[in-house]
Amino acid sequence: MMKLSPRLKKIAEQINAGETMADIGTDHGFLPIYLWENKICPKVIMADISSGSLSKARENCEMYDPDARFDLRLGSGIEVLKEAEVDAVVMAGMGGILMTEILEKDVKKSLSFRKLILQPRKDVGKLRYWLFNNGFSITNEALVREGKYICEIITAVPKEVAITRQMNGDDIEYEFPHSLIDYNDELLEEYLNTKRKLEAEILANMKKGKYTTAKEIRHQEYRISYIDYLLRRI
Ligand SMILES: C[S@@+](CC[C@H](N)C(=O)[O-])C[C@H]1O[C@@H](n2cnc3c(N)ncnc32)[C@H](O)[C@@H]1O
Repeated sequence: MMKLSPRLKKIAEQINAGETMADIGTDHGFLPIYLWENKICPKVIMADISSGSLSKARENCEMYDPDARFDLRLGSGIEVLKEAEVDAVVMAGMGGILMTEILEKDVKKSLSFRKLILQPRKDVGKLRYWLFNNGFSITNEALVREGKYICEIITAVPKEVAITRQMNGDDIEYEFPHSLIDYNDELLEEYLNTKRKLEAEILANMKKGKYTTAKEIRHQEYRISYIDYLLRRI
């Protein structure tokens, strides 16, 4: 039986029994193999832009279930899927900006799936910003520890009416939305404290720099006080 890392296990938990899924950027294919083996998903699609990654997934499929006929597709992003072909689209372990580029290529198709489960390696604020401004709402935020990092897992669903926020993708409110408090993951306090420490280090370095403006310092101080505000609300 396939045993998943805590990160992939937490992603698997965002999928309900009976949902079909596609794993975009599957690499080793562990997540879809697990969902198939455990009879959570009746149909799984494994897709990757790299033929080397897809061969790895194929080898794992043969090793874990030689009789199953898995659906492996070579190509970029959701280009390999038809509109509404699966309930859930997972993208994990790639950058948040790459995810927005993949979704942006065909927003109508992106909105045709019931949900997206996204685990960005970086640029999580820019990803949330893109989702809010392209017709999605976020229905769950989960955190999971991987080595010395805490990773974010976002579940987004299409909304009928898109919200347009008068904000910028770099704003800290997208990096650490108030909804993190509502979902109240057990790792949240540690996650916010780690981020606060990083922001405080950035501020200390900025203060040492010769060319940092007072406005930049104020902006960085705001980021820290915003995290403090969230920490007080836990
Ligand atoms: C770091 S691996 C993540 C593997 C797995 N999803 C996980 O979270 O463990 C990233 C994978 O994304 C694939 N990838 C990168 N850009 C892609 C794209 N535009 N479309 C599909 N796959 C892509 C890479 O080839 C690589 O296999």
